[in-house]
Amino acid sequence: MSALRGRRIGLIGAGKMGQALIKGLLAQGMSPKRLSASDASAAIRRTVTSRFRISVSEENRAIARRSDIVILAVKPQQFAEVVGGLAPVLSRDHLVISIAAGITLRWLQRRLPGVPVVRVMPNLPATVGCGFAAMTLGRAARPAHRKIAQAIFGGVGEVIELPERHFDAITAVSGSGPAYVFFLVRAWEQAAKSLGLPSAVARRAILVTLAGGLVLLDESGVSAEELIARVASKGGTTEAALKVLAQRHVAAHVGEALRAAARRSRQLAWS
Ligand SMILES: NC(=O)c1ccc[n+]([C@@H]2O[C@H](COP(=O)([O-])OP(=O)(O)OC[C@H]3O[C@@H](n4cnc5c(N)ncnc54)[C@H](OP(=O)(O)O)[C@@H]3O)[C@@H](O)[C@H]2O)c1
Repeated sequence: MSALRGRRIGLIGAGKMGQALIKGLLAQGMSPKRLSASDASAAIRRTVTSRFRISVSEENRAIARRSDIVILAVKPQQFAEVVGGLAPVLSRDHLVISIAAGITLRWLQRRLPGVPVVRVMPNLPATVGCGFAAMTLGRAARPAHRKIAQAIFGGVGEVIELPERHFDAITAVSGSGPAYVFFLVRAWEQAAKSLGLPSAVARRAILVTLAGGLVLLDESGVSAEELIARVASKGGTTEAALKVLAQRHVAAHVGEALRAAARRSRQLAWS
C-alpha cells in the first residue's frame, strides 16, 4: 500500500472490473477522497456513488486531470474513442494502466507518447479479492510504476509480471478461466441432479469439493496426476468415471478450447 500513499487514482469505466478495483483499493485503506471514477452509464454512476462514496463523473477528462494514476477499464471496442479523448490531458507524470483484453502496449504507446503505461490482464474473481492478474510494463514505466500496479492488483488477488508475448496465452488461461470453472460446475450440477440429489445438496457438495481439491493441490505441492492416483483405486468408482473422461478425450478437448481462446485473443488484438 505504501506505493499508493499520496496517490490519486481515477477509474475510466466503473463496470464489473472497475468496481472490483475500487473495492480492493478501499479495503486496503485508500482514502475515498483519493479515488474517483467516470462511466458513460448513469445507472453505473449512481451505483458507484452509493456503494463507495467516491467522486463520480461522466467526464473522463475531469477524472484524468484529478488523478496521477488512470486505470482504463472500459471494453476494448471503446478504447479508440476513450484514449483519443484522454490523450490531450495525459502526460509523463501520469501512470496509465490498461486492463483491456487485446489492447497492446504498442497501440497504447503510439497514442500516448511518453506516458508511462502498464498493461494488465486481470480476471473476474478480483470482485471477491481472489483474482489472478498478469502485468507487463511499457517502455516509459519505471520501477515505482511496477510497485503501484503490484499494490493495486495485489489488493484484489495475486499478481505476476509476464512478458507481453504471453498475453494471448494468459488471457486464454486465467482471463477467460473463471468461465471454464463455471461451465464445469454447471455440468457437474446437472449430473448430480440426474443422479437424484437435491439441487442445494449438489451445489454445496460440488463447491466444497472443488475448493477442497484446489487447496489440497496448492498446499501439498503434489502434481494433479499424483493426486488423481491417490483418489482412484483400482476397480473403484473414481476409476470408472476417469475411464469415461479418457475414452471421450476430454483432456484433448480442454486443450482445443484454450487454443481457440488464445487464437481469438490474437485475432482481436489491436497493435
Ligand atoms: N470481465 C472480465 O472477466 C474481464 C477479465 C479480464 C479483463 N477484462 C477487461 O476489463 C475491461 C472492463 O470489463 P468489464 O467486464 O468491467 O466491463 P463492463 O462491466 O461493461 O464495464 C465497462 C463500463 O465502461 C462504461 N463505458 C462505456 N463507454 C465509456 C466511455 N466512453 N467512457 C467511460 N465509460 C464508458 C460502460 O458503460 P455502458 O455499459 O453504458 O457502455 C460500462 O459501465 C475490458 O476491457 C475487459 O477486456 C474483463
